[in-house]
Amino acid sequence: MRNALDLGSSFETVDLRASTPLSAGQVDDTPYGGGAGMVIRVDVVEAALAGRYGGDPVDLRRSRRVVALAAGGRQFDEALAAELAAESELTLLCGRYEGFDERVHEHLASDVVSIGPYVLSGGELAAMVVCDAVIRKLPGALGHEESAVEESFSEALGGAPEYPHYTRPAEWRGHAVPEILTSGDHGRIREWRLERSRNRSGGSPGSL
Ligand code: ADE
Repeated sequence: MRNALDLGSSFETVDLRASTPLSAGQVDDTPYGGGAGMVIRVDVVEAALAGRYGGDPVDLRRSRRVVALAAGGRQFDEALAAELAAESELTLLCGRYEGFDERVHEHLASDVVSIGPYVLSGGELAAMVVCDAVIRKLPGALGHEESAVEESFSEALGGAPEYPHYTRPAEWRGHAVPEILTSGDHGRIREWRLERSRNRSGGSPGSL
C-alpha cells in the first residue's frame, strides 16, 4: 500500500461529526419502531458528502462508486476488488452501531458491501480490508507485478485458491519440499501448481 501511495494514489478520511447538522457532534439516532442500538442518520451522511464533494449528494453516485460498508451487503470478493481498483476514485462509507439508515443505502450509496457474514462494531475495519485488497491491485503496489496475476481467486487460476508455496530449507523436521519443485521442469511444475490449486478449491482437508 505504501508503494501505491508513493506512486501518487492518495487517501483521505472524513469525520461525520465535523460536518453534522446536529448539535454536539451527534451523528446517530434511535431506530424508528424501537429496538436496541443506534442508527447513523441519512442527513448526517448527506452533509458529510456535500461538505467533501459539493453539489447534491444524491447525484454523487452517478459519477463515482460510493460504497457503504454493511454486514448485510454484497459479499466482497476478488472480482469486486478488481472492479473497484479500475475506478479512478472511490468513496467508502463506514457505519457504526446498527449501521446506516436504509436511505443511505438506497439513495446515497452506489454499492452496499460486506466483507463477510459476521457483524463488526463498525465499518472502519471493513473499509481497511477493502482498501488493502483494492490498492494492492494498483500498478506498482506490489513491486513485483507477477505476484498479483496468479494469486488466490485470480482469473489465471480460474477463481481457485492459490497453489502452495515453499521456500528454503528444502527439508524441515523431516518434512521435505515436493520434489517436483526442485526438478527444474517448469512445464511439470506449472501443471502441478494448477492441479494443487484446483484441488484446494474442492473443499478437501487443508483447503482454504
Ligand atoms: N459493518 C459491520 N459488519 C460489517 C461487515 N461484515 N462488513 C462490512 N461492514 C460491516
